Amino acid sequence: MNTENVVRTFVEYFEERGHRRITGSTLMPPPGDDSVLFTTSGMHPLTPYLEGRPHPLGRRLVNVQRCLRTTDLEEVGDPTHLTVFEMLGSWSLGDYEGPQSLRWGYDLLTDGFGIDPRMIYATVFGGDDRVGPDTSSLEVWGEAGVPVELTVEDNWWDNGPTGPCGPDSEIFLWTGDTPPQSTPTQDERWVEVWNHVTMRFRRLDDGSLVPLPQRNVDTGMGLERLVSLLQGTSSVFESDVFGLWRLLVPGLWDVDETSQRILSDHLRSAVVVIGDGVLPGNTGRGYVLRRLMRRLLTVLWREDPTRTLGDLPDQLIRHTLDHFRQDMGPMAVREILLEEERRFRRLLERGRQILTRPRFQGPLDEEDLHYLHDTHGLPRDLVRSLRPE
Ligand code: SER
Repeated sequence: MNTENVVRTFVEYFEERGHRRITGSTLMPPPGDDSVLFTTSGMHPLTPYLEGRPHPLGRRLVNVQRCLRTTDLEEVGDPTHLTVFEMLGSWSLGDYEGPQSLRWGYDLLTDGFGIDPRMIYATVFGGDDRVGPDTSSLEVWGEAGVPVELTVEDNWWDNGPTGPCGPDSEIFLWTGDTPPQSTPTQDERWVEVWNHVTMRFRRLDDGSLVPLPQRNVDTGMGLERLVSLLQGTSSVFESDVFGLWRLLVPGLWDVDETSQRILSDHLRSAVVVIGDGVLPGNTGRGYVLRRLMRRLLTVLWREDPTRTLGDLPDQLIRHTLDHFRQDMGPMAVREILLEEERRFRRLLERGRQILTRPRFQGPLDEEDLHYLHDTHGLPRDLVRSLRPE
């Protein structure tokens, strides 16, 4: 099953069960929402509706939402983490409850996607001093014969210190080459694919929980992870999502496997962020993009500083923009990438020169770092990359 088929199967499954597909999948949070710089999960644009505002398309929704997470940046290069990824999501806005969602989820994974039921493990909220254990999810998994591990923190979902939250049940698939063993928290060959959150609380500024006006279900499943598991590949980078990158990147730059993965992920993410209208800058979203580009250029130049993003074929940029249904032309994206590359190259050269001055020969203290930043525009992380402590 290729990525397109996986998306279609997911969306149609929920449409057949009364869900309406919502569009609007940009990485930009909805207007007026300044709680995050980028959309980090499928539910994020739906926050007002989870809090009770009626949604124009009704109480059952399904979509594919692109998301960006910088919290996992250091993990990119491993088999499962990406900076920009897509999340398949389904919602009940005060309609059906968690057990129904889990039953459908299990049915779709096993019947729809053909996953062997023996490869599935679930985790369930075990209860804390404020909210009791999630017995209804336990019952569903018991009926289905799926083994369950109870946790507390890992099975509580929120999108920040305040806002909608609630207990969740996460579905894991076995990725090892031995028969399944151990449990999700004990063995990382159990990979989390689908999270079903019973979103029925709001956390206030003082940390207290109040019930939301309605009991919702919010589910999210990482598309690339699912695809890689269904295609039996050992990482998301071997799945068809990265097919063209794997074909073309090794011919461009002779780098090791991890660097190849980081370059592919960061470049693809940078294209998507630019395609959603962000320019590199020194604050907010622009700075996230700038940091992403500096990370990828640092990897690219590690062995050979003459390498350039000018070598990147338009085909890869176009392929990415098409996949994410973005209107910007590949040439415009390329120009932004190259301008940022030139800028970073100039900054590095200037930084190297300045750091040869006698004043900076010893260890750098806070005052030096401030001076380098304020007077010469050299950010702390850049100075640190030129002169590790
Ligand atoms: N909000 C949940 C998550 O991000 C499910 O969509 O995992």
